[in-house]
Amino acid sequence: MNNLKNLRGTVDLLPDQLTKWQNVEKILLEQLARASIKEIRTPILEMTELFIRGIGEGTDVVSKEMYTFLDRGERSCTLRPEGTASVARAFIQNGMSSNPLQKLWYMGPMFRYERPQAGRQRQFHQLGVEFIGYDSVRSDVEIVALAWDVLSKLGIKELNLEINTLGDVSDRLNFQKSFLKWLEINKNSLDIDSQNRITKNPLRILDSKDIQTKKALKNAPRLFNFLSEKSHKRYLDFKQQLEVLKIPYVENFNLVRGLDYYTHTAFEITSGALGSQATVCGGGRYDNLIKQMGGPNTPAIGFAIGLERLILLAGNELEVPRNTDIYIINKGYIAEPLAMDLSRKLKKYDLLVELDLSGSSFSKQFKKANKLKSKSIIVIGDDEATKREFIIRLFDQSGNANKEEVISLENDFELEKWINNNLLAK
Ligand code: HAM
Repeated sequence: MNNLKNLRGTVDLLPDQLTKWQNVEKILLEQLARASIKEIRTPILEMTELFIRGIGEGTDVVSKEMYTFLDRGERSCTLRPEGTASVARAFIQNGMSSNPLQKLWYMGPMFRYERPQAGRQRQFHQLGVEFIGYDSVRSDVEIVALAWDVLSKLGIKELNLEINTLGDVSDRLNFQKSFLKWLEINKNSLDIDSQNRITKNPLRILDSKDIQTKKALKNAPRLFNFLSEKSHKRYLDFKQQLEVLKIPYVENFNLVRGLDYYTHTAFEITSGALGSQATVCGGGRYDNLIKQMGGPNTPAIGFAIGLERLILLAGNELEVPRNTDIYIINKGYIAEPLAMDLSRKLKKYDLLVELDLSGSSFSKQFKKANKLKSKSIIVIGDDEATKREFIIRLFDQSGNANKEEVISLENDFELEKWINNNLLAK
Protein backbone atom coordinates (compact mmCIF):
# COMPACT_ATOMS: atom_id res chain seq x y z
CA MET A 1 0.00 0.00 0.00
CA ASN A 2 1.30 3.49 -0.83
CA ASN A 3 2.01 5.76 2.09
CA LEU A 4 -0.53 8.52 2.42
CA LYS A 5 0.81 12.01 1.67
CA ASN A 6 -0.47 15.54 2.00
CA LEU A 7 -1.86 17.27 -1.10
CA ARG A 8 0.56 19.11 -3.38
CA GLY A 9 0.87 22.77 -2.36
CA THR A 10 -0.08 22.12 1.26
CA VAL A 11 2.42 21.76 4.11
CA ASP A 12 2.61 20.36 7.61
CA LEU A 13 3.94 22.87 10.10
CA LEU A 14 5.91 20.92 12.66
CA PRO A 15 6.53 21.89 16.31
CA ASP A 16 10.06 23.20 15.67
CA GLN A 17 8.86 25.42 12.81
CA LEU A 18 5.89 26.67 14.78
CA THR A 19 8.02 28.48 17.36
CA LYS A 20 8.80 31.06 14.70
CA TRP A 21 5.18 31.23 13.52
CA GLN A 22 3.96 31.75 17.06
CA ASN A 23 6.53 34.46 17.80
CA VAL A 24 5.69 36.28 14.56
CA GLU A 25 1.95 35.99 15.22
CA LYS A 26 2.40 37.31 18.75
CA ILE A 27 4.19 40.43 17.49
CA LEU A 28 1.56 40.94 14.77
CA LEU A 29 -1.37 40.59 17.16
CA GLU A 30 0.20 42.98 19.69
CA GLN A 31 0.53 45.60 16.95
CA LEU A 32 -3.08 45.16 15.90
CA ALA A 33 -4.39 45.36 19.47
CA ARG A 34 -2.42 48.55 20.01
CA ALA A 35 -4.03 50.04 16.90
CA SER A 36 -7.49 49.17 18.35
CA ILE A 37 -8.30 46.78 15.52
CA LYS A 38 -10.77 44.01 16.39
CA GLU A 39 -10.68 40.42 15.26
CA ILE A 40 -13.34 38.87 13.01
CA ARG A 41 -13.57 35.16 12.13
CA THR A 42 -15.53 34.10 9.09
CA PRO A 43 -16.03 30.56 7.75
CA ILE A 44 -13.32 28.99 5.62
CA LEU A 45 -16.05 27.56 3.39
CA GLU A 46 -18.40 29.97 1.61
CA MET A 47 -20.95 29.93 -1.19
CA THR A 48 -19.08 30.09 -4.52
CA GLU A 49 -21.25 33.00 -5.61
CA LEU A 50 -19.68 35.22 -2.93
CA PHE A 51 -16.31 35.11 -4.67
CA ILE A 52 -17.73 35.30 -8.19
CA ARG A 53 -19.60 38.47 -7.29
CA GLY A 54 -16.98 39.83 -4.89
CA ILE A 55 -13.68 39.15 -6.63
CA GLY A 56 -14.89 39.06 -10.26
CA GLU A 57 -15.49 36.24 -12.71
CA GLY A 58 -12.69 37.30 -15.08
CA THR A 59 -9.95 37.22 -12.45
CA ASP A 60 -7.43 34.38 -12.35
CA VAL A 61 -8.40 33.66 -8.75
CA VAL A 62 -12.03 32.98 -9.65
CA SER A 63 -11.65 31.53 -13.13
CA LYS A 64 -8.67 29.24 -12.51
CA GLU A 65 -7.66 28.95 -8.89
CA MET A 66 -10.64 28.23 -6.69
CA TYR A 67 -11.28 24.98 -4.83
CA THR A 68 -14.94 24.62 -5.69
CA PHE A 69 -17.21 21.62 -5.21
CA LEU A 70 -20.83 20.64 -4.70
CA ASP A 71 -21.71 19.68 -1.14
CA ARG A 72 -24.15 16.86 -0.34
CA GLY A 73 -27.03 19.33 -0.71
CA GLU A 74 -25.85 20.15 -4.28
CA ARG A 75 -24.79 23.67 -3.23
CA SER A 76 -21.67 25.06 -4.87
CA CYS A 77 -19.12 25.76 -2.14
CA THR A 78 -15.63 27.25 -2.29
CA LEU A 79 -12.69 27.20 0.11
CA ARG A 80 -11.99 30.91 0.57
CA PRO A 81 -9.19 32.17 -1.69
CA GLU A 82 -8.96 35.44 0.30
CA GLY A 83 -10.68 37.21 3.19
CA THR A 84 -12.03 40.54 1.96
CA ALA A 85 -15.18 39.23 0.27
CA SER A 86 -16.09 37.20 3.37
CA VAL A 87 -15.58 40.16 5.68
CA ALA A 88 -17.77 42.30 3.40
CA ARG A 89 -20.47 39.61 3.47
CA ALA A 90 -20.28 39.29 7.26
CA PHE A 91 -20.47 43.08 7.62
CA ILE A 92 -23.69 43.19 5.59
CA GLN A 93 -25.27 40.01 6.93
CA ASN A 94 -24.70 40.76 10.61
CA GLY A 95 -26.01 44.32 10.48
CA MET A 96 -22.56 45.65 11.33
CA SER A 97 -23.33 48.74 9.26
CA SER A 98 -25.20 50.14 12.28
CA ASN A 99 -21.68 50.99 13.41
CA PRO A 100 -20.40 52.16 10.06
CA LEU A 101 -16.77 52.54 11.12
CA GLN A 102 -15.12 49.19 11.73
CA LYS A 103 -11.46 48.29 11.95
CA LEU A 104 -11.15 44.52 11.60
CA TRP A 105 -8.43 41.89 11.27
CA TYR A 106 -8.46 38.17 10.49
CA MET A 107 -5.87 35.48 10.18
CA GLY A 108 -6.10 32.01 8.76
CA PRO A 109 -5.73 29.65 5.81
CA MET A 110 -6.69 30.60 2.24
CA PHE A 111 -6.77 28.31 -0.78
CA ARG A 112 -5.72 28.92 -4.37
CA TYR A 113 -4.97 26.27 -6.96
CA GLU A 114 -1.72 27.83 -8.14
CA ARG A 115 1.51 26.25 -9.28
CA PRO A 116 3.41 25.64 -6.04
CA GLN A 117 6.91 27.08 -5.65
CA ALA A 118 8.97 28.75 -2.91
CA GLY A 119 6.64 31.26 -1.22
CA ARG A 120 3.60 30.03 -3.18
CA GLN A 121 1.31 27.32 -1.88
CA ARG A 122 -2.18 26.07 -2.52
CA GLN A 123 -3.08 26.36 1.13
CA PHE A 124 -1.40 29.45 2.55
CA HIS A 125 -2.08 31.86 5.40
CA GLN A 126 -2.94 35.51 5.43
CA LEU A 127 -3.22 38.17 8.04
CA GLY A 128 -5.75 40.66 6.71
CA VAL A 129 -6.87 44.08 7.94
CA GLU A 130 -9.97 45.88 6.70
CA PHE A 131 -11.00 49.45 7.59
CA ILE A 132 -14.69 49.56 6.71
CA GLY A 133 -16.61 52.83 6.39
CA TYR A 134 -13.46 54.92 6.06
CA ASP A 135 -13.14 57.09 2.97
CA SER A 136 -10.62 59.80 3.81
CA VAL A 137 -7.19 59.86 2.20
CA ARG A 138 -5.87 59.70 5.75
CA SER A 139 -7.35 56.23 6.16
CA ASP A 140 -5.45 55.10 3.04
CA VAL A 141 -2.25 56.44 4.53
CA GLU A 142 -3.05 54.90 7.91
CA ILE A 143 -3.56 51.47 6.31
CA VAL A 144 -0.32 51.66 4.32
CA ALA A 145 1.56 52.94 7.40
CA LEU A 146 0.15 50.09 9.48
CA ALA A 147 1.30 47.46 6.99
CA TRP A 148 4.69 49.14 6.69
CA ASP A 149 5.16 49.45 10.47
CA VAL A 150 4.03 45.90 11.21
CA LEU A 151 6.59 44.55 8.74
CA SER A 152 9.30 46.89 10.00
CA LYS A 153 8.58 45.90 13.61
CA LEU A 154 9.47 42.35 12.62
CA GLY A 155 12.84 43.64 11.49
CA ILE A 156 12.18 42.90 7.83
CA LYS A 157 14.66 44.62 5.59
CA GLU A 158 14.73 45.53 1.91
CA LEU A 159 11.07 46.50 1.92
CA ASN A 160 9.70 48.36 -1.10
CA LEU A 161 6.31 49.99 -1.25
CA GLU A 162 4.73 50.29 -4.70
CA ILE A 163 1.66 52.42 -5.13
CA ASN A 164 -0.81 53.22 -7.88
CA THR A 165 -4.29 54.60 -8.30
CA LEU A 166 -7.01 52.78 -10.20
CA GLY A 167 -9.38 55.77 -10.15
CA ASP A 168 -13.10 55.31 -9.72
CA VAL A 169 -15.42 53.22 -11.90
CA SER A 170 -16.04 55.89 -14.49
CA ASP A 171 -12.32 56.76 -14.75
CA ARG A 172 -11.68 53.11 -15.40
CA LEU A 173 -14.42 52.74 -18.00
CA ASN A 174 -13.06 55.71 -19.92
CA PHE A 175 -9.60 54.25 -19.81
CA GLN A 176 -10.79 50.79 -20.74
CA LYS A 177 -12.47 52.05 -23.96
CA SER A 178 -9.26 53.59 -25.16
CA PHE A 179 -7.12 50.71 -23.91
CA LEU A 180 -9.29 48.14 -25.71
CA LYS A 181 -8.87 50.02 -29.00
CA TRP A 182 -5.11 50.00 -28.48
CA LEU A 183 -5.15 46.29 -27.60
CA GLU A 184 -7.03 45.42 -30.80
CA ILE A 185 -4.45 47.24 -32.89
CA ASN A 186 -1.45 45.87 -30.95
CA LYS A 187 -2.75 42.39 -30.24
CA ASN A 188 0.07 40.66 -32.07
CA SER A 189 2.75 42.30 -29.95
CA LEU A 190 1.33 40.66 -26.84
CA ASP A 191 2.04 37.24 -25.34
CA ILE A 192 -0.69 34.58 -25.68
CA ASP A 193 -1.78 34.91 -22.05
CA SER A 194 -2.32 38.63 -22.46
CA GLN A 195 -4.16 38.10 -25.78
CA ASN A 196 -6.57 35.81 -23.96
CA ARG A 197 -7.13 38.44 -21.31
CA ILE A 198 -8.36 41.07 -23.80
CA THR A 199 -11.93 39.88 -23.51
CA LYS A 200 -11.81 38.53 -19.96
CA ASN A 201 -9.80 40.97 -17.88
CA PRO A 202 -7.93 43.54 -19.99
CA LEU A 203 -6.68 45.57 -17.03
CA ARG A 204 -4.56 42.66 -15.83
CA ILE A 205 -2.58 42.80 -19.05
CA LEU A 206 -0.94 45.87 -17.54
CA ASP A 207 0.81 43.74 -14.99
CA SER A 208 2.06 41.09 -17.39
CA LYS A 209 5.57 39.86 -16.63
CA ASP A 210 6.26 39.02 -20.30
CA ILE A 211 9.17 41.15 -21.56
CA GLN A 212 7.75 41.59 -25.08
CA THR A 213 4.36 42.64 -23.69
CA LYS A 214 5.96 44.99 -21.18
CA LYS A 215 7.84 46.68 -24.01
CA ALA A 216 4.70 47.07 -26.12
CA LEU A 217 2.74 48.46 -23.17
CA LYS A 218 5.10 51.40 -22.91
CA ASN A 219 3.14 52.98 -25.77
CA ALA A 220 -0.31 52.06 -24.46
CA PRO A 221 -2.70 54.63 -22.99
CA ARG A 222 -2.23 55.17 -19.24
CA LEU A 223 -5.03 54.92 -16.72
CA PHE A 224 -3.42 57.80 -14.89
CA ASN A 225 -4.29 60.13 -17.78
CA PHE A 226 -7.99 59.22 -17.53
CA LEU A 227 -8.40 60.16 -13.88
CA SER A 228 -11.03 62.76 -13.03
CA GLU A 229 -9.77 65.86 -11.27
CA LYS A 230 -11.12 64.49 -7.98
CA SER A 231 -9.39 61.12 -8.32
CA HIS A 232 -6.20 62.84 -9.36
CA LYS A 233 -6.25 65.12 -6.35
CA ARG A 234 -6.92 62.19 -4.06
CA TYR A 235 -3.84 60.44 -5.37
CA LEU A 236 -1.66 63.54 -4.98
CA ASP A 237 -2.87 63.97 -1.38
CA PHE A 238 -2.11 60.32 -0.70
CA LYS A 239 1.44 60.64 -1.94
CA GLN A 240 1.98 63.88 -0.07
CA GLN A 241 0.84 62.36 3.23
CA LEU A 242 3.09 59.34 2.75
CA GLU A 243 5.95 61.79 2.34
CA VAL A 244 5.01 63.53 5.61
CA LEU A 245 5.25 60.13 7.34
CA LYS A 246 8.57 59.49 5.57
CA ILE A 247 7.33 56.23 4.13
CA PRO A 248 9.31 55.73 0.93
CA TYR A 249 7.33 54.64 -2.10
CA VAL A 250 7.72 53.94 -5.79
CA GLU A 251 4.93 54.63 -8.26
CA ASN A 252 4.06 51.70 -10.47
CA PHE A 253 1.38 52.59 -13.02
CA ASN A 254 1.07 48.95 -14.00
CA LEU A 255 0.12 47.80 -10.52
CA VAL A 256 -3.50 46.71 -10.98
CA ARG A 257 -3.81 43.88 -8.42
CA GLY A 258 -5.43 40.56 -9.20
CA LEU A 259 -8.90 41.13 -7.76
CA ASP A 260 -11.60 43.22 -9.42
CA TYR A 261 -12.92 45.11 -6.43
CA TYR A 262 -10.25 47.79 -6.17
CA THR A 263 -10.81 51.53 -6.69
CA HIS A 264 -8.37 54.42 -6.21
CA THR A 265 -5.43 53.38 -4.00
CA ALA A 266 -3.70 50.07 -4.76
CA PHE A 267 -0.43 49.06 -3.18
CA GLU A 268 1.99 46.21 -2.70
CA ILE A 269 4.95 45.74 -0.42
CA THR A 270 7.73 43.56 -1.77
CA SER A 271 11.01 42.46 -0.32
CA GLY A 272 14.25 42.06 -2.23
CA ALA A 273 15.09 39.21 0.15
CA LEU A 274 12.33 37.02 -1.36
CA GLY A 275 12.74 35.24 -4.67
CA SER A 276 10.29 35.54 -7.55
CA GLN A 277 7.30 35.57 -5.17
CA ALA A 278 8.41 38.88 -3.70
CA THR A 279 5.08 40.41 -2.67
CA VAL A 280 4.61 40.02 1.04
CA CYS A 281 1.62 42.36 1.34
CA GLY A 282 -1.05 43.59 -1.06
CA GLY A 283 -4.03 45.82 -0.59
CA GLY A 284 -6.08 48.76 -1.66
CA ARG A 285 -9.36 50.60 -1.53
CA TYR A 286 -12.61 48.89 -2.48
CA ASP A 287 -15.35 51.51 -2.27
CA ASN A 288 -17.96 49.64 -4.32
CA LEU A 289 -17.66 46.08 -3.03
CA ILE A 290 -20.11 46.27 -0.12
CA LYS A 291 -22.76 48.05 -2.19
CA GLN A 292 -22.25 45.67 -5.08
CA MET A 293 -22.83 42.76 -2.71
CA GLY A 294 -26.18 44.19 -1.61
CA GLY A 295 -25.08 46.29 1.37
CA PRO A 296 -25.20 50.02 2.01
CA ASN A 297 -22.85 52.32 0.15
CA THR A 298 -19.72 51.84 2.28
CA PRO A 299 -16.17 52.80 1.37
CA ALA A 300 -13.38 50.57 2.65
CA ILE A 301 -9.70 49.85 2.40
CA GLY A 302 -7.49 47.00 3.56
CA PHE A 303 -4.51 44.75 3.00
CA ALA A 304 -3.38 41.19 3.53
CA ILE A 305 0.06 39.91 4.43
CA GLY A 306 1.10 36.44 3.23
CA LEU A 307 2.33 34.69 6.37
CA GLU A 308 4.49 32.06 4.64
CA ARG A 309 6.43 34.86 2.93
CA LEU A 310 6.62 36.81 6.16
CA ILE A 311 8.05 33.79 7.99
CA LEU A 312 10.70 33.41 5.28
CA LEU A 313 11.69 37.03 5.87
CA ALA A 314 11.52 37.19 9.66
CA GLY A 315 14.83 36.90 11.51
CA ASN A 316 16.22 33.65 12.93
CA GLU A 317 16.11 34.99 16.48
CA LEU A 318 12.36 34.35 16.31
CA GLU A 319 13.04 30.64 15.82
CA VAL A 320 14.49 30.23 19.30
CA PRO A 321 12.02 28.46 21.57
CA ARG A 322 11.46 29.64 25.13
CA ASN A 323 13.43 27.52 27.60
CA THR A 324 11.70 25.31 30.11
CA ASP A 325 11.60 27.08 33.49
CA ILE A 326 11.08 24.05 35.72
CA TYR A 327 11.57 20.41 34.80
CA ILE A 328 10.03 18.05 37.39
CA ILE A 329 12.10 14.92 37.89
CA ASN A 330 10.10 12.30 39.75
CA LYS A 331 10.19 8.58 40.41
CA GLY A 332 8.53 6.26 42.85
CA TYR A 333 5.09 5.03 43.88
CA ILE A 334 4.52 7.79 46.46
CA ALA A 335 6.45 10.52 44.66
CA GLU A 336 4.80 10.39 41.22
CA PRO A 337 1.26 11.49 42.20
CA LEU A 338 2.71 14.23 44.43
CA ALA A 339 4.85 15.46 41.53
CA MET A 340 1.72 15.64 39.42
CA ASP A 341 -0.01 17.67 42.09
CA LEU A 342 2.99 20.02 42.25
CA SER A 343 2.97 20.51 38.49
CA ARG A 344 -0.72 21.48 38.63
CA LYS A 345 0.04 24.03 41.35
CA LEU A 346 2.77 25.56 39.21
CA LYS A 347 0.37 26.21 36.33
CA LYS A 348 -0.82 29.44 37.92
CA TYR A 349 2.57 31.08 37.26
CA ASP A 350 3.77 32.39 33.91
CA LEU A 351 6.30 29.58 33.68
CA LEU A 352 7.08 26.77 31.27
CA VAL A 353 6.80 23.70 33.45
CA GLU A 354 7.32 20.14 32.28
CA LEU A 355 6.56 17.06 34.32
CA ASP A 356 8.62 14.04 33.33
CA LEU A 357 6.15 11.24 32.66
CA SER A 358 8.69 8.68 31.44
CA GLY A 359 9.11 6.75 34.72
CA SER A 360 12.73 6.21 33.67
CA SER A 361 15.77 6.39 35.96
CA PHE A 362 16.69 9.60 37.78
CA SER A 363 19.84 9.93 35.68
CA LYS A 364 17.88 9.73 32.43
CA GLN A 365 15.46 12.37 33.70
CA PHE A 366 18.37 14.63 34.74
CA LYS A 367 19.82 14.25 31.25
CA LYS A 368 16.50 15.27 29.70
CA ALA A 369 16.32 18.40 31.88
CA ASN A 370 19.85 19.19 30.84
CA LYS A 371 19.07 18.73 27.17
CA LEU A 372 16.12 21.08 27.45
CA LYS A 373 18.39 23.65 29.15
CA SER A 374 15.77 23.94 31.86
CA LYS A 375 16.43 26.92 34.11
CA SER A 376 15.63 24.87 37.19
CA ILE A 377 14.60 21.39 38.27
CA ILE A 378 12.42 19.97 40.98
CA VAL A 379 13.45 16.53 42.24
CA ILE A 380 11.08 14.29 44.12
CA GLY A 381 11.66 10.61 44.81
CA ASP A 382 10.09 8.38 47.44
CA ASP A 383 12.68 9.50 50.04
CA GLU A 384 11.60 13.13 49.65
CA ALA A 385 7.94 12.17 49.28
CA THR A 386 7.83 10.34 52.61
CA LYS A 387 9.32 13.43 54.25
CA ARG A 388 6.63 15.51 52.41
CA GLU A 389 9.28 17.70 50.72
CA PHE A 390 11.06 18.23 47.41
CA ILE A 391 14.34 19.68 46.16
CA ILE A 392 14.39 22.67 43.84
CA ARG A 393 17.62 23.61 42.10
CA LEU A 394 18.52 26.60 39.93
CA PHE A 395 21.08 26.55 37.12
CA ASP A 396 23.14 29.41 35.75
CA GLN A 397 23.51 30.26 32.05
CA SER A 398 26.20 27.61 31.56
CA GLY A 399 24.11 24.90 33.16
CA ASN A 400 25.89 24.75 36.53
CA ALA A 401 23.73 24.38 39.63
CA ASN A 402 24.08 27.56 41.65
CA LYS A 403 21.31 27.37 44.25
CA GLU A 404 19.37 24.63 45.92
CA GLU A 405 16.62 24.53 48.51
CA VAL A 406 14.47 21.88 50.14
CA ILE A 407 10.86 22.99 50.40
CA SER A 408 7.99 21.33 52.21
CA LEU A 409 5.16 20.14 49.96
CA GLU A 410 2.77 21.96 52.25
CA ASN A 411 4.64 25.26 52.17
CA ASP A 412 3.18 26.99 49.10
CA PHE A 413 4.35 30.33 50.39
CA GLU A 414 7.99 29.25 50.39
CA LEU A 415 7.64 27.84 46.86
CA GLU A 416 6.10 31.09 45.62
CA LYS A 417 8.88 33.11 47.21
CA TRP A 418 11.51 30.92 45.53
CA ILE A 419 9.83 31.26 42.15
CA ASN A 420 9.48 35.01 42.50
CA ASN A 421 13.08 35.48 43.52
CA ASN A 422 14.67 33.09 41.07
CA LEU A 423 12.48 32.61 38.01
CA LEU A 424 10.11 35.54 37.71
CA ALA A 425 12.42 38.33 38.93
CA LYS A 426 14.21 40.16 36.09
P1 HAM B 1 -3.59 39.25 -2.61
O1 HAM B 1 -2.59 40.19 -3.21
O2 HAM B 1 -4.27 38.33 -3.51
O3 HAM B 1 -4.64 40.19 -1.88
O4 HAM B 1 -2.91 38.43 -1.45
C1 HAM B 1 -2.23 39.08 -0.38
C2 HAM B 1 -0.93 38.37 -0.06
O5 HAM B 1 -1.18 36.97 0.21
C3 HAM B 1 0.08 38.34 -1.18
O6 HAM B 1 0.82 39.54 -1.23
C4 HAM B 1 0.96 37.18 -0.78
O7 HAM B 1 1.91 37.58 0.20
C5 HAM B 1 -0.04 36.23 -0.15
N1 HAM B 1 -0.41 35.17 -1.11
C6 HAM B 1 -1.31 35.21 -2.10
N2 HAM B 1 -1.37 34.03 -2.76
C7 HAM B 1 -0.48 33.22 -2.16
C8 HAM B 1 -0.06 31.86 -2.37
N3 HAM B 1 -0.60 31.09 -3.32
N4 HAM B 1 0.89 31.34 -1.54
C9 HAM B 1 1.45 32.10 -0.57
N5 HAM B 1 1.09 33.38 -0.32
C10 HAM B 1 0.14 33.94 -1.11
C11 HAM B 1 -5.72 39.71 -1.20
O8 HAM B 1 -5.92 38.55 -0.93
C12 HAM B 1 -6.66 40.82 -0.74
N6 HAM B 1 -7.80 40.21 -0.06
C13 HAM B 1 -5.95 41.82 0.13
C14 HAM B 1 -6.83 42.93 0.59
C15 HAM B 1 -7.42 43.05 1.78
N7 HAM B 1 -7.21 43.96 -0.16
C16 HAM B 1 -8.02 44.73 0.54
N8 HAM B 1 -8.18 44.17 1.73
